[in-house]
Amino acid sequence: MGVKLGILGLGTVGTGTVQLLQDSAGRHPLLQEIEIYRVGVRSLDKPRAVELSTEVITTDLESIVNDPAVDIVVEVMGGLEPARSLILKALSNGKHVVTANKAAIARFGAEIFTTANQAGVYVMIEASVGGGIPVIQPLKQSLSVNRIHTVTGIVNGTTNYILTRMQTEGSNFSDVLADAQRLGYAEADPTADVDGFDAADKIAILASLSFGGRINLQDVYTEGIRQVTKTDIAYAEKLGFVIKLLAIAKRDTPSSPLWVRVHPTLVPQAHPLASINGVYNAILVEGEPIGQVMFFGPGAGAGATASAVTSDILNLVAILKTNTVVPNPLFTCRHQEYCQIAPMAELITRFYARFLTNDQPGVIGKLGTCFGNYGVSLESIVQTGFQGQLAEIVVVTHDVPEGNFRQALAEIRDLSAIESIPSLLRVL
Ligand code: NAP
Ligand code: HSE
Repeated sequence: MGVKLGILGLGTVGTGTVQLLQDSAGRHPLLQEIEIYRVGVRSLDKPRAVELSTEVITTDLESIVNDPAVDIVVEVMGGLEPARSLILKALSNGKHVVTANKAAIARFGAEIFTTANQAGVYVMIEASVGGGIPVIQPLKQSLSVNRIHTVTGIVNGTTNYILTRMQTEGSNFSDVLADAQRLGYAEADPTADVDGFDAADKIAILASLSFGGRINLQDVYTEGIRQVTKTDIAYAEKLGFVIKLLAIAKRDTPSSPLWVRVHPTLVPQAHPLASINGVYNAILVEGEPIGQVMFFGPGAGAGATASAVTSDILNLVAILKTNTVVPNPLFTCRHQEYCQIAPMAELITRFYARFLTNDQPGVIGKLGTCFGNYGVSLESIVQTGFQGQLAEIVVVTHDVPEGNFRQALAEIRDLSAIESIPSLLRVL
């Protein structure tokens, strides 16, 4: 007997998943055991890129999660509600769930995984991070024997696409964003992409898996890319860096707190993440004894995400077909404790700062003195350009506690020669 899917959503990811399942030749033979039994949408009138009979498509999503015939619910509708309630209902009804919804998992993961564990079913989330890149199962299984200390990712395809095009073409932010939406990379509301919230959801999920505890999303320090300008991209290039939106989770020792953060970052041109361009994502995992492992691939889009969603469906079909006894600890998520998060003031990092100053003698000396007062040592300082009457000075520091750097900046802001500090970015 076939395994019956109830799919919630037939947008970019839902359509890609149905297309993949309807064209199973040359793929894993277990895909032929799957029946697309129900598909839930908002509007029956919308033209669809896939053929499904009228008995399959419905606007009654509750009826899908309550239907005793449905074995697996695939939530690819997105958003917080009603997605959260439908996932919880499906789980309580004893159905396995596959979801691509990082926003719901990052916010309601505790409730969702607890409900799944109580019901003895699985929640599979491979598509929630990295689009088509298999990274969730590797972190849960193959890499889990390592003591992981850092996860650094380019995990948002939209912002990487925008930054890459701004860099290579000198394009304007809003035109590139419109292209990302047209190509199906950006979320319906692109704020989540551009302001870093989508990446924050994803690093919260990766950190939770890597460090074995829950992450409170409010603790993830988040900055987006709106303040990244063509000027900074050009200065970064001159100094040997590219600007990427990085999501980073790091722990010094197994007993120390974590830093979990998302922000635009100057990445040295020779670093493996510097060459990840366009909608591609990459996740660099560092641990002991393995060293460094990098996962790379398409981070968004219909086909890539459908691959990840369908891999989860395949795992569940294999479980259902072999009557494997649940729960398999390599598939479940049983963390109860929240990870302790370290304050950003204690983060040790390099900084890039761009100052607009009055062109008067001694300004660079005064900057150096203020930095020196707080133990901030400078790696480079350049004055190459002017903006109108104002001189532009760019500074890159050595590693420094963020708190010290901020104290120095507060003093610098009070200098009469300083007109403004238009950019402040961390350096990897
Ligand atoms: P989308 O194109 O906006 O599609 C959403 C689908 O869900 C549509 O078919 C819509 O119905 C249906 N839907 C939404 N709310 C509904 C409601 N209240 N009742 C009934 N149907 C509803 O979204 P998407 O890009 O496929 O993304 C889906 C999920 O995958 C999101 O969680 C997203 O974060 C995640 N994801 C997306 C990508 C990507 O590349 N796009 C990659 C990884 C993960 P109608 O068609 O009738 O409007
Ligand atoms: N909007 C997301 C991105 C989709 O651009 O990465 C994939 O999660």
